[in-house]
Amino acid sequence: MLSKEDNELLTHVGPGTPMGDLMRQYWMPIYLSTDLEKPDNKPHRIKLLHENLILFRNTSGEVGLLSEVCPHRGASLYWSRNEQDGLRCVYHGWKYDITGQCVDMPSEPAASNFRDKVRAGSYPCQERNGIVWTYMGPRKTPPPLPELEFNMLPPEHVVIRRDMQDSNWVQGLEGNIDSSHLSFLHTRLEATGNAEFYGEGPATRGLFYNDPAPKMEVTNTDAGVMDAAGRVEEPGKVYWRVTQFLMPFYGIFAPVSLEECPLQWWIPLDDNSVMKWDIRWNPSRPIREEEKKSLILEDPGGWVDWTADAKTHWQLKANADNEYLNEYDAQLDKRFSGIPSINLQDKAVLESMGHIVDRTIEHLGTSDAMIIRTRRRLINAAIALRDHGTVPPGVDDPQVYRRRTATAILDDGVDWQVGAGPYLEAFTDTPVLSAEAQQASLRVKQS
Ligand code: FES
Ligand SMILES: [Fe+2]
Repeated sequence: MLSKEDNELLTHVGPGTPMGDLMRQYWMPIYLSTDLEKPDNKPHRIKLLHENLILFRNTSGEVGLLSEVCPHRGASLYWSRNEQDGLRCVYHGWKYDITGQCVDMPSEPAASNFRDKVRAGSYPCQERNGIVWTYMGPRKTPPPLPELEFNMLPPEHVVIRRDMQDSNWVQGLEGNIDSSHLSFLHTRLEATGNAEFYGEGPATRGLFYNDPAPKMEVTNTDAGVMDAAGRVEEPGKVYWRVTQFLMPFYGIFAPVSLEECPLQWWIPLDDNSVMKWDIRWNPSRPIREEEKKSLILEDPGGWVDWTADAKTHWQLKANADNEYLNEYDAQLDKRFSGIPSINLQDKAVLESMGHIVDRTIEHLGTSDAMIIRTRRRLINAAIALRDHGTVPPGVDDPQVYRRRTATAILDDGVDWQVGAGPYLEAFTDTPVLSAEAQQASLRVKQS
């Protein structure tokens, strides 16, 4: 459990909050390059860390991110004309470039230099391999981008999905790094999937595993926290799933097949909603078209229509009002939760806690060791920044993000950090499953 004060510190990310300041030290991956389409298209209204912002691609193809409020008299820049390397407010025609500088003020005398003194709020952006990143922090020269493997590969090696969750960002992250819930929430009750219920497909190792109380071993890393969940595979063998938390909002669960490295990250719109990004990448070759669907399963029910409200973007129709498409009959013999897709199963439990779960009334067990350590790492980093100006882990060390997770079957007694260590290095040809874990995975798929 946490004190009320610590829970607030952990979860609140608005300007001036300790965790909001911590998050603003890092580059944040916020958009797909393809979503911005071509230069001079209609601006996009987005929300990040409680700030209302306008994202656009200018005539030269550069990405700009401005505060929504026009510094003249406060009209929304969402209605701007995106023209000739700037956004022109439609109220009185003032125009701003991607740095926020006012570059034209047609409502003032031509001789006036007033425009030189006016700036809109702005944040620098850059694109790398199909992802738009922004830096909302205080430095004039931002730190380097983190060297995450998926973002150093051509976009063809990567598949991405997003969806909005109506919960605080920490709930999302904690589900992401919680290895224990696999044995329950995501369990299929029949052996190989069932065509009568959504989600037919090969069963995946770990989803209906028969050791529900894994041994958790947690350690700090340069980038965050790493955890290994060890389940008894057979006498003398332990099935290890290694999970990583990377500062400040990345979670990497253990892979279930040789072809995919997984990663998720959580971008808070505000304290009550978060955009979940779900990534799979293949380090050695482009992902084939036929693989994409099985790597990132679509959810049943489809998406709500987009409006100018950023919270409607990537919002699934399945929600609390329609019980996330739960079928109680299916809950009896097909899925432990009765909810069709893995993503919806996660969404249902995370949103059921309320926007910000009350962590003062929890009862944490040994299986929550990774959650406990990750919270503490975040809280300590935010306090160190607030009280001493300490630069948080990873900000100036892009190479500490060169990490993967792994699944390995090791002899009982072998230190998982030694036995699984080689599989955790990114930018190598090492597979993410040990040979024995590959065999076990195949056996389950064929059963
Ligand atoms: S309010 Fe934007 S130009 Fe006047
Ligand atoms: Fe989950």
